[in-house]
Amino acid sequence: MGKIREIKVQELDTDAFIQEKVREIREAVGDGQAINALSGGIDSSVVTMLGHLALGERLRTVFVQNGLMREGEAERIAEIFRGLGVPVEVVDAQDEFFAALKGVTDPEAKREAITQTFYRDVFGRIVRESGAKFLLQGTILTDVDETVAGIKRQHNVFEQLGIDPQQTFGYRILEPLIQLRKDGVRQVGRALGLPDELAERIPFPGPALAARVIGEATPERIATVRRATAVVERLLRDSGAFQYMAILHEDHVTGIREGQRDFGQQIEVRCWDSVDARTARPTRLPFDTLEALAQQIVQQVPGIVSVTYNIATKPPSTMEAV
Ligand code: XMP
Repeated sequence: MGKIREIKVQELDTDAFIQEKVREIREAVGDGQAINALSGGIDSSVVTMLGHLALGERLRTVFVQNGLMREGEAERIAEIFRGLGVPVEVVDAQDEFFAALKGVTDPEAKREAITQTFYRDVFGRIVRESGAKFLLQGTILTDVDETVAGIKRQHNVFEQLGIDPQQTFGYRILEPLIQLRKDGVRQVGRALGLPDELAERIPFPGPALAARVIGEATPERIATVRRATAVVERLLRDSGAFQYMAILHEDHVTGIREGQRDFGQQIEVRCWDSVDARTARPTRLPFDTLEALAQQIVQQVPGIVSVTYNIATKPPSTMEAV
């Protein structure tokens, strides 16, 4: 595969782009069926709408409940898409993902475990059962760049690493957004009629909350970061920031609760100003907001005694911690 030609948001003709992608999807799939991996993030939501426009009922949209999603996410996303006329099947694969992540602490090994479970096991099975030959997914150019640069192996990048999905997993992957970055994807999403709740949604990584737990992603540790994430998203919803998140640290620190020593866990809050996720700066949040974050996290998330705010830029930091 040659170099991907970037379409910058300034040169993006949204309607022409949508028409072209719909045509390409139709041509590739012919009169067959395609499966579509919806996570509810803006990228996969836009791909779902493009696939729906192109294929209608020949598209089967699947939300994989991997146990690593945010509070109420599967239900809410399925409901929004049903409202848009797109039926969504929620496939419960939590046990498979946690089994694959058991004992895995290295960031790249975690990503690989998620990739294999997602593409080989879960989608491999769905594709075999359905006879579909294509998987539609929302890879964007930033995912490819960072993977190729060896910074982070994004879970959805294959061809650029010399991996042929057809040979490895038994199906082809279509990536209609691969020439765009986040700002372009949002513009296309709005033109496709996605509600603001989706079009304006902050980015969320493919490996989901496993990217926000340093060390092993056990069901308990994921539950902890999920609760902290709910607090952070509620308090920073109107911050205007590009993205905000909670990260669970691996090391414990001494705390004190009700006069007793409490050797507890730490949450790091990150909140980023960014245009395209390639570089980012920490948002200058008011100190009152930081205090509210700390108070609510220690009150509402069991086991947390320390809350920190990241003040380093990307680079050298990355936006997600893992
Ligand atoms: P990083 O952490 O690489 O994230 O600075 C850049 C943007 O990409 C989003 N994102 C991912 N990040 N693995 C990641 O580490 C993924 O699979 C992934 N998918 C999306 C991330 O949330 C940030 O907006």
